[in-house]
Parts: sequence; structure tokens; C-alpha cells
Amino acid sequence: MILGFMFIIGYQAFADELGPPSNQETIDPQKVEQQEPFNNPGVKKIGEKEYEVVMTLEIFSFDPMELEFPAGSTVHFVMTSKDVVHGMEIANTNVNTMVVPGYIQRITQTFDKPGNYLVLCNEYCGAGHQVMSTTIQIS
Ligand code: CUA
Repeated sequence: MILGFMFIIGYQAFADELGPPSNQETIDPQKVEQQEPFNNPGVKKIGEKEYEVVMTLEIFSFDPMELEFPAGSTVHFVMTSKDVVHGMEIANTNVNTMVVPGYIQRITQTFDKPGNYLVLCNEYCGAGHQVMSTTIQIS
């Protein structure tokens, strides 16, 4: 009986960890393209060296692709998935997050160092998972 109890507790902790945080904004994954702000993905300049990137992820691409910002820029990513769970990792930064259909993921990163930053999907999402990548050019 104790074992069964431990199993349930353990399983619940595991399930909680896998699930998205309960305070997240939600979105209908079937209608991403009809909903603000994802009806208009892209880059918006919102301040001095400050940008908002509205990004959708789907098998096997990021939209928009190949971003470019001046060094020192702070970039606010607002993301959702149009199909399955994807990941969004920016090499050489701390950005490494899941992008789950039905949820809006927000993450902010300041790019001080110039360079070519590789953006990768780090959640297995199907046959084209390995090629799901793009770049952020900081100059
Ligand atoms: Cu998208 Cu792996």
C-alpha cells in the first residue's frame, strides 16, 4: 500500500513537471494564424535597441527565420506552436525553452556579443527535427 502511494505521488510530481506552468497564457492551437499577435509574425522595434519578435513554430521551421539585430539589443520573443511540442534554444545563451501548442511562451534575451547565434529546436518533433534551425545575426 505504501508503495502504491509513493508511486502515485511520484507520478504526479513527474506529470506536474512535464506540464506547462499553470499561469501561462493560452491560445487555440488550431487558430494560431487568426489570433493576435500571431496573425502577423515578425520583428517589431519597440524601443532603443529593443525588439519584439512574434514567432510561430511548426514542423520543421521557425517563422520568422534568420533574424538580425544590432549588438546590445534586448529581444522579447513571443512564441507558440502550430502543431506539436517544439523547443527553442539559442546556442551560447541561457535561452532554452519548450514551445507547447495551446500556450504562449515569452522569453527575453539581451545580445551583447556580436556573432551568429544558432537557434535550434531541442524537442524531438518528427522526421525533420534535426533540420529545424535558424540563425540570429548580431552585428
Ligand atoms: Cu521542432 Cu524538433
